[in-house]
Amino acid sequence: MVIRPFAYEDFDTVIVLWERCNLVNDADDPEMDIERKVAHDPDLFLVAEIAGEVIGTLMGGYDGHRGSGFYLAVHPDFRGRGIANALINRLEKKLLARGCPKIHYMLSAENYMAITMYEKLEYEEESTLLLAKRLIIDN
Ligand SMILES: CC(C)(COP(=O)(O)OP(=O)(O)OC[C@H]1O[C@@H](n2cnc3c(N)ncnc32)[C@H](O)[C@@H]1OP(=O)(O)O)[C@@H](O)C(=O)NCCC(=O)NCCS
Repeated sequence: MVIRPFAYEDFDTVIVLWERCNLVNDADDPEMDIERKVAHDPDLFLVAEIAGEVIGTLMGGYDGHRGSGFYLAVHPDFRGRGIANALINRLEKKLLARGCPKIHYMLSAENYMAITMYEKLEYEEESTLLLAKRLIIDN
């Protein structure tokens, strides 16, 4: 397994993977999300590849204050092999190398498996309320 930054030829495979992993909702346009990320900070957008196929993603970010991770996805056929763990660890290393002091992940409170996964990796739940406002309507 190789973890590397997203490349433009991964575009279609990544969209299909996110749909398969139920990470695409009506309010988001994943193609626009990729376009913006690639234009802004492509190095933190990681993909996991096995035998030339992209089977995992993690879209990391760093704004100079906090790091973040979105679109953590592993193809169902490749789950339970530590690929998500490897993506999260790689992002942590890249963020640390940039001097990032803290990482935030946002996930659904019902995503028990993912919550357990992050807790095993020493992430702690914080009781902060997330407020969001969409500035560009994609859909
Ligand atoms: C969440 C997800 C990314 C995990 O990917 P993965 O590569 O299977 O995860 P890993 O193999 O690295 O396992 C990490 C941890 O997840 C948990 N886990 C993995 N597979 C599991 C399973 N079948 N049942 C229960 N827990 C499981 C375990 O806690 C595991 O840690 P451990 O190996 O130390 O026991 C994957 O299931 C997925 O893409 N889900 C859909 C999208 C999603 O929910 N994304 C996360 C929120 S944005």
